Amino acid sequence: MDVRHDTTAASVAAENAPAASEAGLKDDPIVSGAAPAGRNLLAHYREFLPVTEQTPLIGRGEGFTPLVRAHALEKRVGCAELWLKLEGCNPTGSFKDRGMVMAVAKALEEGAEAIMCASTGNTSAAAAAYAAAAQIKAVVVVSAGKIALGKLAQALIYGAVVIALDGTFDDALRIVREITARNPITVVNSINPYRLQGQKTAAFECSDVLGDAPDILAIPVGNAGNITSYWMGFREYRRAGRTTHLPRMWGFEAAGAAAIVENRPIENPDTVASALRIGNPANWQRAVRARDESGGLIDTVSDPEILDAYKLLAEGEGVFAEPASAASVAGVLKLAAAGEVKPTDRIVCVLTGHGLKDPQIALDVARDVVPAPNDVREVEKLLDLR
Ligand code: F0G
Repeated sequence: MDVRHDTTAASVAAENAPAASEAGLKDDPIVSGAAPAGRNLLAHYREFLPVTEQTPLIGRGEGFTPLVRAHALEKRVGCAELWLKLEGCNPTGSFKDRGMVMAVAKALEEGAEAIMCASTGNTSAAAAAYAAAAQIKAVVVVSAGKIALGKLAQALIYGAVVIALDGTFDDALRIVREITARNPITVVNSINPYRLQGQKTAAFECSDVLGDAPDILAIPVGNAGNITSYWMGFREYRRAGRTTHLPRMWGFEAAGAAAIVENRPIENPDTVASALRIGNPANWQRAVRARDESGGLIDTVSDPEILDAYKLLAEGEGVFAEPASAASVAGVLKLAAAGEVKPTDRIVCVLTGHGLKDPQIALDVARDVVPAPNDVREVEKLLDLR
């Protein structure tokens, strides 16, 4: 597997894109809690972000995630290059950290003492972590019994107040909107514009590492914030002359939660990909614009397609991403089978969250453990070695 980690982005980018050498790659200040290479996301991309002299450059090592080439998948899809953006490598294990660090930094700048969000899990983990880092209060509202174990454990251990609502994610978001509108609490769902600003940095990183934008950016769609962020990022980089073209945006909703594809809110969204159980996406119209302006598409992937891609990523590529993340790969496989992928295409699939977020699904779909007596010969026998 060809691995391009962004710690080497300076050299890779210098080889690939003359413009990228002017991106300030060498000049980042070292800030406490910075990324492994000593870089801080907010500082690194500050010229593209709402970072002012007053913005605290907080960080927990978010961003600069690996972009790895997936040769086995590439063959199956029949494209020139297929890359996986491993957003599970962020500090709380999902892309939400990029948006949360920006949103919490701005909340601190504005003197906020508490943040609040609705969540299918990952946003709550990120909100809880960055609130803890900033020593402010976090309240997260989740749909009772609908959140993966790892995400719930994260929100709790970081010290957030976790409210398990007898309702859906969409109900939770409605309640959070109302409460934050009439109380001194900052909402940190993707209706907070700073969230989208932070998340667009992933599009910059893909472009910096590849030396240009990909031809196709494949991404799961839930509340539709991330597809909106990537599209914003790619357009801004293009405008700044850092890339030569724009990608087509391919978004994938889970079939049981496909409001945008079906063009109607879904009252009881249901899918194995718990992160995508959203029936009325907050950034619906912006996602449609990203799709249309880029000449892309938003399609559905079924639960079996998601789980096939999930297993294929783990067994075939050694990449453990959560089921929602596998929707991007499931979608590309589906469209490749329909003849929509060209042999010349360079594709990036965004893997939004780490597989360990939801260990139960892995145990449900993987092979069983092999019980053995405490005897070396018996173990050999079980392995067909003698
Ligand atoms: N993948 C994962 C792992 C997610 O957690 C989410 C959203 C998405 C994809 C979809 O991204 O909402 O920007 O379209 N999770 C949210 C949450 C809703 O509350 O953690 P989106």
